[in-house]
Amino acid sequence: MPHPAIARDKAAVVTGAASGIGKAAAARFAGVGMRVYLLDLPGPALDAARDEAARAATEPDHVVALPCDVSDEAEMRRAAQRVISVCTAPSILMNNAVTRTGGGVWNPWADWKKAVDVNLWGVINGVRSFGPAMISAGARAFVVNVGSKQGITNPPGNAAYNVTKAAVKTFTEALQHDLRTTPGCRVSAHLLIPGWTTTGDRAHQPGAWLPEQVVDYMLSGLEAGDFYILCPDGETTAEMDRKRILWGAGDITENRSPLSRWDPVYKDAFDTFEP
Ligand SMILES: NC(=O)c1ccc[n+]([C@@H]2O[C@H](COP(=O)([O-])OP(=O)(O)OC[C@H]3O[C@@H](n4cnc5c(N)ncnc54)[C@H](O)[C@@H]3O)[C@@H](O)[C@H]2O)c1
Repeated sequence: MPHPAIARDKAAVVTGAASGIGKAAAARFAGVGMRVYLLDLPGPALDAARDEAARAATEPDHVVALPCDVSDEAEMRRAAQRVISVCTAPSILMNNAVTRTGGGVWNPWADWKKAVDVNLWGVINGVRSFGPAMISAGARAFVVNVGSKQGITNPPGNAAYNVTKAAVKTFTEALQHDLRTTPGCRVSAHLLIPGWTTTGDRAHQPGAWLPEQVVDYMLSGLEAGDFYILCPDGETTAEMDRKRILWGAGDITENRSPLSRWDPVYKDAFDTFEP
């Protein structure tokens, strides 16, 4: 049985819906007859994603492009008012928008600020703008925040992105605790953790998943009631993810150096742990 929030005539809000996983999710929700609001920066990509979702929809007029900078609290609140004025509350909120701007510890302030504003504040703005109406509506509903393995295992390369995704994980865990301890609340929160997925204008590589596969995996995780929806891909199995996450936690419990997986001192030990 699909999650009851995914149903004809209910409403879904998807941020970052002009591309990749968000675009695929918006089209999927439209295909089951939901009202779908695609939130993204204004432009031809958003219009094209709306058209694509409308072609998949049983009710093309119910598919709406809502230009919105998720990092801007006022814009997000306006978007929420617009959605709530039509449908009381969405049954699905998928906070998925992302910027890869950021980089290493010494990258410009502006890059760090943008990463935090879009990737973390975008999620907080979405939850705080739509969440109260979703709770008060009293119907089954869910919030999916999109994290990353990089926010858990912290590989070197884009520290700003990793920091924001670690914060999204922490925020979503706190959100789910809050929702499950709120009397009468029928809303749940979930952390979607995609694997390597071909999105944007990147060429599809063997080993990567397509956005539609991530959406399939997300829907089965939601159906099973999973909080952590940790996707494998064609290169990384669920067992490899499990070991990498355990190894990262072991940096603290075993008093190793941080990011020891990439420290030559621990190379042999890690290679033995995850052959
Ligand atoms: N693609 C992957 O391999 C992968 C892996 C792990 C996690 N993820 C996560 O999955 C989610 C989707 O990733 P994707 O690769 O499909 O993304 P994408 O790059 O294809 O699309 C991101 C969308 O976010 C929008 N966006 C950026 N800034 C915005 C803003 N300020 N306001 C509104 N919209 C904004 C962009 O315009 C774009 O349409 C992200 O949260 C990402 O971190 C992706």
